[in-house]
Amino acid sequence: MPAPASETARQFAAGYATYRNLPALAGLGSFTEAVNPGLSVEESVRCLKVHHYALRRLHQIFIARLTAEPIYELKMAFSYHAHLCAEHVTALRARVGEMREPPLGLEKVPHPGLELLFDEILGAPTTAELLLGLYELALPELRDGLQRHQDITHVLADQPTRRLLRFALTEVEEMLAYGRQAISALVSPDDRAQALDGLAVLCAALASVPEPGAEPAASALPTRRNSAKPFRFDGKPRRDERFPDPYNMGVNAEVFLYDEKQPLDGKVLLMFYKRLREIDVPEMMASILAETPDKPWGYYRDLTRQLWDEARHAMMGEVGFASVGVDWPRNVMVNFTWSLGLNTQLTPKERHAVLYFIEQGLMPKTGKRHEWEVGVMSKNPLAATFQDFDWADEVLHARVGRDWYVSDMPSAHEAVAYGDRCWSKVLMGWEEWRQQGLTQHRNWWPDTYAQYCSQNGVTPQPDAMAFSTSYQSVRADLKDISASA
Ligand SMILES: [Fe+2]
Ligand SMILES: [Fe+2]
Ligand SMILES: [Fe+2]
Repeated sequence: MPAPASETARQFAAGYATYRNLPALAGLGSFTEAVNPGLSVEESVRCLKVHHYALRRLHQIFIARLTAEPIYELKMAFSYHAHLCAEHVTALRARVGEMREPPLGLEKVPHPGLELLFDEILGAPTTAELLLGLYELALPELRDGLQRHQDITHVLADQPTRRLLRFALTEVEEMLAYGRQAISALVSPDDRAQALDGLAVLCAALASVPEPGAEPAASALPTRRNSAKPFRFDGKPRRDERFPDPYNMGVNAEVFLYDEKQPLDGKVLLMFYKRLREIDVPEMMASILAETPDKPWGYYRDLTRQLWDEARHAMMGEVGFASVGVDWPRNVMVNFTWSLGLNTQLTPKERHAVLYFIEQGLMPKTGKRHEWEVGVMSKNPLAATFQDFDWADEVLHARVGRDWYVSDMPSAHEAVAYGDRCWSKVLMGWEEWRQQGLTQHRNWWPDTYAQYCSQNGVTPQPDAMAFSTSYQSVRADLKDISASA
């Protein structure tokens, strides 16, 4: 703790008045606060590095756990919380660099107790234990640390840090509020009882970390439990029971969307489907992030922003279906074949290549502009809004791809060609999955369209009702799939 101001300094400050009683110090605080010496640059940097470490590890955990997490809402929340953590990591790194310190030493672990804490949460054996570790221990600890730092660092001298802390606190509180609700909805008393031993290790790890400014405590590190073996990323996507047919590739949305004789409202429904199906992009991108070590921080920040955008797109599709009264868990078969194929058959770089190939293909006139125009022409203003932002986000993603993927390739042309080759080599077992009984590729489209029509007083169009093109021989970019692939 920094020494407080002397009594005389406080008295002088209390008697000091601004011109016509204008707010003191540009509104930052009072003179009695400002005569307290606060932290040194070195001490403030030390605190920043602890927050930085916590946010970075939280980012890692949210990313590492979202693909195999079955519950859709948690996947979406983990995507969001990973993005928030990444943004604050970025801001804190920049601030450290402003404080006579090159942003070096940021990769150093501030205390082995913290490392053990986050390793244990990362390896939590159940979703319940993961949620409790994240939202009842790690994030509250981070919030308290941010708050303490804000309280003791100088109100005027360290204003740029305090501004970042205030912003981080707001978003950490938002994450905590989500976590509390998630825990009360999902974690039973039994789950909590089962997690007790694991949580005890987390508490002991925290107890081994000395209070800032205190002498290093002698308290020993607990024995590792969940992290006794190194964590292994699980790239096999899992879904909850609202995804009963995850291998279903029975409805080719793109073929419908580019068919001039099909009605606009049907196209809007299939755009909602395409958006909701984007859940598989966070599932896939998480695998790139989790399995690509040692890139500059900007790589993780930008790819996480993109991952979160894809999660938003998925939720736009969900909102879209809700807005037209379509019961998507019952009538729309949202598959995971793309994330499953890429995560289990390609290297991280090959996955990034496929993503870039697909996203740069979305930019020409037939891609995202077309979807937005369909939204506008369909007179469904919600679809128009969603496609407008989906398009803008995808333009940003093409840039992220150029910055972090194309820049690593011999040429822009080869970057595209390589992505195409990598996508072509992913084996989609259309027929095998059917033979194995994993799916019948049921054509779910007529049920969805019929429900939409009956809920909205629309007469079904015969061409739309009769649509039955699957992905068996036409890929999502409308390319014919050769017999070998
Ligand atoms: Fe996308
Ligand atoms: Fe999208
Ligand atoms: Fe994208």
